[in-house]
Amino acid sequence: MFKSLAGIAFAVGTLSGAQLAAATEYRIGLITPPPHQWTVTANAIADELREATDGRIDLLIFPSGQLGNEAQMLQQLQTGALDFAFMTLGEFANRDPNYGIFLAPFIAEDVPAARKLLSGETAQELLDGVDKFGLEGFGYAMAGLRQIVMRDEVQSVSDLSGKKIRTVPLAPELDFWTGLGATPTPMPLPALYDAFANGQLDGMQIDFEGTWNSQYYEHAGSIIESNHMMFPMIAVGSARKWADIPPEDQSKISEVMQRHLDELIGKYAEIDAEYLEKLRGTDVPVKTVDRSFFGDSIDRWYEEWRTKTPLLQQLEAEAAHE
Ligand code: BEZ
Repeated sequence: MFKSLAGIAFAVGTLSGAQLAAATEYRIGLITPPPHQWTVTANAIADELREATDGRIDLLIFPSGQLGNEAQMLQQLQTGALDFAFMTLGEFANRDPNYGIFLAPFIAEDVPAARKLLSGETAQELLDGVDKFGLEGFGYAMAGLRQIVMRDEVQSVSDLSGKKIRTVPLAPELDFWTGLGATPTPMPLPALYDAFANGQLDGMQIDFEGTWNSQYYEHAGSIIESNHMMFPMIAVGSARKWADIPPEDQSKISEVMQRHLDELIGKYAEIDAEYLEKLRGTDVPVKTVDRSFFGDSIDRWYEEWRTKTPLLQQLEAEAAHE
């Protein structure tokens, strides 16, 4: 059915300037749920882009793995079916072990040290290198430092031996746990609560934020504040789709994304402290440990991974200059 000319004039007259400039929709996928800081940040980026471009850039958020797991999202980015994603380094490290080096135990003693490494030369080299996967790299952020939540009480590292510990399927993380005599058990976040509650797992490697928000502590007998690894996020886009975005929009998207990512890393010192405080308010004992708790397993981890990943020594040299 054709609209009358008068009808069209009326319709155009009621549109704002912003609506006249057609909005372009982009999609960003994440595995984290809506309350998680990665998702909160994606929403803040979307709001700022919408505002700065009068609604012309409309970034739609797909949290909680709605578009699939990270392997599936990576494929979608490569084919151009997805525009952007915030991802863990798992899929990258599976293809090139160098992407696993940020999971080196105790490479960063705290969040500011992690932030420095994630904005350093080695990180930049790896970020630039994502073009070999058909991606455009925007920057890094992180989740909190990794901690350990166990069903039973833990006095010494030997209490971790023989235990089934949930990890992400990242080789450096799996090796860390195997080196302690434990059985690392990769499991996606959505399956974790039930598996811990019904005794399929003896413990998990996780952050304080998730431990509190997803209430894993409800079934815990001890929480170990170990801060033993950082857990980076990499923000990437589809190289195919990126090439079609006008240069002025590319600059805006890159600038807004990078600023929010860096702010997000900075916030984690506070986020970790805030959630640790909440967890201390439960009746689950919190034990604070350092590198020495893990014995010589960390040295053995480094010996092995220095041969697997040439870039690890470069990152260690950067860390030594903190
Ligand atoms: C995890 O699988 O432990 C995880 C994934 C993304 C953000 C934080 C934690």
